[in-house]
Amino acid sequence: MRRPGVDEYGEAGVKSESNASGQWVRVAGTQEVGSQQGHVVQIGKRRLALFEVNGKIVCIDDRCPHAGGRLGEGQVCGSVVHCPRHGWRFDLVDGRCLSDPRFEVQRYSVKIDDGVVFVELPGQE
Ligand code: FES
Repeated sequence: MRRPGVDEYGEAGVKSESNASGQWVRVAGTQEVGSQQGHVVQIGKRRLALFEVNGKIVCIDDRCPHAGGRLGEGQVCGSVVHCPRHGWRFDLVDGRCLSDPRFEVQRYSVKIDDGVVFVELPGQE
């Protein structure tokens, strides 16, 4: 039986390595991330939303900078996710808010290793 947040590669959130800028954290298997909807993972206090955009996996905060809507539950159109609360649109590639240029959503570096998705989180998690 499968538990949420756990895949055959081990526990999501396990820190794999660190460097001066942050720590790479295992968050999912690549097969869990699709292009039609977000895949949300909780890492410590941080909620992350993973999406596949043009065959590449990207990671953003699951929290909309407007009023906290869960972007991982938003509708995806190409490289844009629509916040489910008030409909603001965010470019998943660069994090820009297309509805109000004063805002952007936090993005995280992603790397893939043997079917496992790692996200670089700032140090001191
Ligand atoms: S909370 Fe996302 S647009 Fe308002």
